Amino acid sequence: MFEGKTILTGVKPTGTPHLGNYLGAIKPAIELGRLTDRHYMFVADYHAINAEKDPAVLRQTLREIACIYLAFGLDPEHSVFYRQSDIAEIPEITTILYAYTPKGFMNKAHAYKAAVDKNRVAQKPDDDGINMGLYTYPTLMAADILAYDTDLVPVGKDQVQHVEIARDIAGAINAHYGREILRLPQAYLRENATVVPGIDGRKMSKSYGNGIPLLEDDAIIKKAIFSIKTDSRPMEEPKNPDSVLVYEIYKSIATPEQTQEMAAGLSAGKLGYGHVKNMLLDAVLAEVREAREKYNYYMAHFAEVEGMLEDGAAKARPVAQATLKRLKDAVFGR
Ligand code: TRP
Repeated sequence: MFEGKTILTGVKPTGTPHLGNYLGAIKPAIELGRLTDRHYMFVADYHAINAEKDPAVLRQTLREIACIYLAFGLDPEHSVFYRQSDIAEIPEITTILYAYTPKGFMNKAHAYKAAVDKNRVAQKPDDDGINMGLYTYPTLMAADILAYDTDLVPVGKDQVQHVEIARDIAGAINAHYGREILRLPQAYLRENATVVPGIDGRKMSKSYGNGIPLLEDDAIIKKAIFSIKTDSRPMEEPKNPDSVLVYEIYKSIATPEQTQEMAAGLSAGKLGYGHVKNMLLDAVLAEVREAREKYNYYMAHFAEVEGMLEDGAAKARPVAQATLKRLKDAVFGR
């Protein structure tokens, strides 16, 4: 299904990811990238500046996200791995796309509307604190996608609409010139994307502060796991595994056999909460141990990563240049 397709993944550099980010987005993105020979993977640092103005924070979060993907197995020899802001053609393409982007698309774009809704709840003016970068965000994202003749964009639900906007803009341009100038991309929504509950039982989310960290020391990971909500039922009481939050989290990371073992132990009243938490801790540590070492290595030797990002940009740019040329030739009748 993915062979011969161009797949493009963009990530915003925002904060340290937790287990939910890893299982729901990072791991599947890396695995999907292996299924095609044309995988682009970039850090959306232009998108990041809409919300973050501190260069030190921007530098740090970019480093973190780049090192995380490498640590968890992204292969820069296989995937074209680069930084959005290294591709000068992206803002050029964006400018051309603006002329074909109905303003109404931006008004109804999810990211902008969410910001307006937030202002309304806070009884502030609709556009309070909203800059043009946020407002026009989907057009920049369209340039990211269209520049590389992307077929598939793996996304979570919140980004589907943005990919559809990219597709609509490309469709409008192709229709206007009566030929295929831009490849029409499609959102690839992972059907049963793993949603991991957090330590309080709500969806694991940075904004709830209920995450299990990935790249911290054992003691910190342990502390989070041992804070997972339980109840006062004694060990001997047979429990429906689905009523045990630790089990729900375990399911998302353990093998089917391990999951089965925990389910059987809980049902038989042979595993207490301390046991199952230790089992989860072992599973998490097994999954992250090697990655954590690599992560620490790359963070300490960022010059190596910098080199990889530059190599990636050198591979990406000619493709973006070709797209830009097709666009300019068409638009200006050259
Ligand atoms: N908007 C995406 C996010 O918030 C990041 C992103 C920017 C992106 N450009 C993209 C994702 C292009 C996919 C394709 O996560």
